[in-house]
Amino acid sequence: MNTRSDVPPDRNLALELVRVTEAAALQAARFVGMGDKEAADQAAVDGMHAVLHTIHMDGVVVIGEGEKDEAPMLANGEVVGDGTPPHVDIAVDPLDGTRLTAQGRPNAVSVIALSERGTMFDPGPVFYMEKMAGRDELLDLLDLDRPLGKTVELVAERRGVEVRDVMVVVLDRPRHEEGIKQIREAGARVRLITDGDVAGALLAADPTRPVDLLWGIGGTPEGVITAAALKCYGGGMIGRLSPQNDDERKKAAEAGYDVTKVMTHDDLVRSDDCFFSATGVTDGDVLRGVHYEGSRGATTESLVMRSRSGTVRRIASRHDRDKLRSLTGYRYG
Ligand code: FBP
Repeated sequence: MNTRSDVPPDRNLALELVRVTEAAALQAARFVGMGDKEAADQAAVDGMHAVLHTIHMDGVVVIGEGEKDEAPMLANGEVVGDGTPPHVDIAVDPLDGTRLTAQGRPNAVSVIALSERGTMFDPGPVFYMEKMAGRDELLDLLDLDRPLGKTVELVAERRGVEVRDVMVVVLDRPRHEEGIKQIREAGARVRLITDGDVAGALLAADPTRPVDLLWGIGGTPEGVITAAALKCYGGGMIGRLSPQNDDERKKAAEAGYDVTKVMTHDDLVRSDDCFFSATGVTDGDVLRGVHYEGSRGATTESLVMRSRSGTVRRIASRHDRDKLRSLTGYRYG
């Protein structure tokens, strides 16, 4: 991160970013189960935006809520932070799991990733990416061209288990039917998730959890955020842009994107010093969600990490919603 001599080398921005994802999660949590994903997303954006500007950094949103005209806040290209060094790229997904939140389902999280200016892959007009993620022990087996049935066999062999012990987490989408069939025909198991492949990848990257791989086509922005997360957490991923229609393909070609190239987490985030924070919105496999306590309290759980040190922190916080409300003007649930 610190290529400039005037920037101190040892500041862990993730410890500040946790306030950003906590604020987003607290705002979004009020919409859990309310059936309104746009309102939940907007609340998360508001919460994130309010705190992001207080952080000492000169940040540019590389991955945000979309183009400036359509996204009033956290738009791609928006400058955030108080303008002081370090100069950084920022990727946000204020609410990964808008539908999960609206439907009161598990695994919705608020996430942010940050790395040195100019080091984050800009997805441009390509919304979708095929991804495969797994723990360190399996990294050399990740392959988007080998048949999935063969890959799960190799995973079983590497782990010294039977193929039926292998579990692959996959977004439940019609486009994955053939892949799911291949995994099952090889004898391995599939854990279908309705949304949230950042949390799915974190699950696959953790050697203590009963999931071996994440596979499937999901959001490109989520792919870059996942790359930053896994560079901090351990494990890794590969990804290849996967335009889903002619319009996306045409735009990708016009913008000069190579949709045949397989990228690793190091291509997606080209810095050895990146930062990541995620806070649970609903209870999930990786993080506990926001819980309200009494009339004014709330608790959150966050995963707070830095790639350079490899330190992974779980931060459990208790919040006083009344005080936060009077300090910020926001409702905080
Ligand atoms: P949002 O909640 O931010 O909309 O994303 C949810 C998500 O499931 C991502 O985790 C995933 O990468 C992407 O959507 C998949 O896209 P789609 O729902 O279009 O298949």
